Amino acid sequence: MKPRIKELLDTNPCEQQFIIEGWVRTCRHSGSLCFIELTDGSCLSGIQVIAEAGLKNYAEEIRHLSTGTAVKVVGPLVESPAKGQRVEVRAKKIEILGPAPADPGSYPLQKKRHSFEFLRSISHLRPRANALGAVTRIRSELNFALHRFFRDQGFFQVHTPLITTSDCEGAGEMFTVTALSDKELQQSEPFTQDFFGRKAGLTVSGQLQAEIYALSHARVYTFGPTFRAENSNTSRHLAEFWMLEPEMAFCDLGCDMDIAEALIRNLISTVLDNCEQDLDLFHRFISKGLIEKLEVVRQQTFTRMTYTEAINELEGAQQQFEYPVTWGGDLQAEHERFLCEEIAGRPVIVTDYPKTIKPFYMRQNDDGKTVAAMDILVPGIGELVGGSQREERLDLLTARMQGAGLDLEEYSWYLDLRRYGSVPHSGFGLGFERLVQFVTGMSNIRDVIPFPRTPGNAPC
Ligand code: 4AD
Ligand code: MG
Repeated sequence: MKPRIKELLDTNPCEQQFIIEGWVRTCRHSGSLCFIELTDGSCLSGIQVIAEAGLKNYAEEIRHLSTGTAVKVVGPLVESPAKGQRVEVRAKKIEILGPAPADPGSYPLQKKRHSFEFLRSISHLRPRANALGAVTRIRSELNFALHRFFRDQGFFQVHTPLITTSDCEGAGEMFTVTALSDKELQQSEPFTQDFFGRKAGLTVSGQLQAEIYALSHARVYTFGPTFRAENSNTSRHLAEFWMLEPEMAFCDLGCDMDIAEALIRNLISTVLDNCEQDLDLFHRFISKGLIEKLEVVRQQTFTRMTYTEAINELEGAQQQFEYPVTWGGDLQAEHERFLCEEIAGRPVIVTDYPKTIKPFYMRQNDDGKTVAAMDILVPGIGELVGGSQREERLDLLTARMQGAGLDLEEYSWYLDLRRYGSVPHSGFGLGFERLVQFVTGMSNIRDVIPFPRTPGNAPC
C-alpha cells in the first residue's frame, strides 16, 4: 500500500520517490515556486508540496491548481524549513487526476469557514471540510475501540435484525416495512397478505433479541442502525441512529452501571490518546475547554443518584425550568443537563425511575413503584445511555406485559426465556451519535453522522 499523508508526516527525510495522492487544499506561488497543501483525509494536517518552475506542466497546469483538484505527486521527502512541519515533498512530477473549477459557483467548498447548516446542504462534499473530516476519524476510532473493549471482556457481537415484528420500547415509533402496493394497503387487515404475513417494521432496539443471546452466551452486544419515527426536530434526535446495546446474564443493575461507566471512560481515554490533533481542533474552534472536560470523565467516577434524589435536587434548585419537576414525570433534557452540569459537574447515573414511565421489560423494585432502571446523563447533551436490569420473573413480567396491552402470544418467545433457565440479566443502550457529540463538542447531532435522517430530510 502507498503511504498516507499521516504516515509521511512522521517519516524522516529520505531520497525515496513517494507517490502521494490527494486533493489540493491551497496553492500559492511565489517567484519560481508553487506551494501546494495536499490532503488525503488521513489526518487534519496536509503535507506541503513544493513544485519548481522547471516541471514540464508548471506554467499550464501546476500554477493554476485550485482548491479541490485531485492530484498525484511523485517525489522525495525533504526537511522542511517552514515552522510546524518536519518534512515536505519536493515534487518531481505532478499529474492532475481530477480538476476542480476555481470559481466558488462551481466548487462550493472553498477554503474558508462555512456554516454547518450550509455544509449539510452539500452532504456529498462536506467530509472534506476540516471539522467534518475530524468527526469522521473520531467516529471511526470510537467504533473500533468499542469492539476492542467488548472483545477484551469476553463479549460476543450478535447481529440482531433490522426488520422486526416486535416494538421493544412500546412507544409506537416504528417505521412500517411493507411490500404491499398503495391499493393493497387500503384493504382490511392488509398485513396478513404482506411479505411476512404480519405487520413488520424497522427495529427501534435490538435489545429483545440480544437478551436471547445473553441467555446462551452470557455476555453479548449488538451495534447497528436503529430507527425511530419520532417527530423530534432537536439537536440530539435522529430518525436513523446507531445504538450500542450490550446485554449481560448474571448481572444486576450495579454491574450494568459499572460496565457502562467503564466503557464510556475507556472510549474517551482512547480518543484522548489517539486523536490528539483532531480533538485540538474541536477544543480550539468548536467547544472551548473540551479536552479538560474529557479529562474529568477519564479520571473521575460518575455521580450516582436515584430518580427520587434527582427530583429532590431539582425541586430544591434555584432555577426556573420550562417543564415542571414532579415525582412521576419524565426528566426533560433541561433537567438532565442541570443535574450533571450544575449539580454534579460530571456525568451522572440516575437509577430507579417510576415504573409508569419506563418500558415493560424493566425489573420491578420491592417498593412496587419503581424499576431497576438507569440513565447516564452527560454535560452538554443529557441522556447518553438508557438501560436496566430486566424482569426475569415470569409472573411479574406477564402481569407487566398484560398491563401494557401486549399480545402474550406474539411475545411467547420472550416469556419462554423466563421459563427455561431464567437468570438475573441487564443491559443498556448507548446512542453512538450522542457519544460522538459528547467527545467532539459538536452541538448538532446531524453533524456527527455522515447522512442524517430527520423529519422531512433524507436527500441521498
Ligand atoms: O433509552 P433508549 O430508548 O433505550 C432503549 O432503546 C433500550 N432498549 C436500550 C437497552 O437497554 N438495550 O435508547 C438508548 C439510547 C438513548 O439513551 C440515546 O442515547 C439514544 O439511544 N437514542 C437516540 N439517539 C439519537 N436519536 C434518537 N432518536 C434516539 N433515541 C434514543
Ligand atoms: Mg431512554
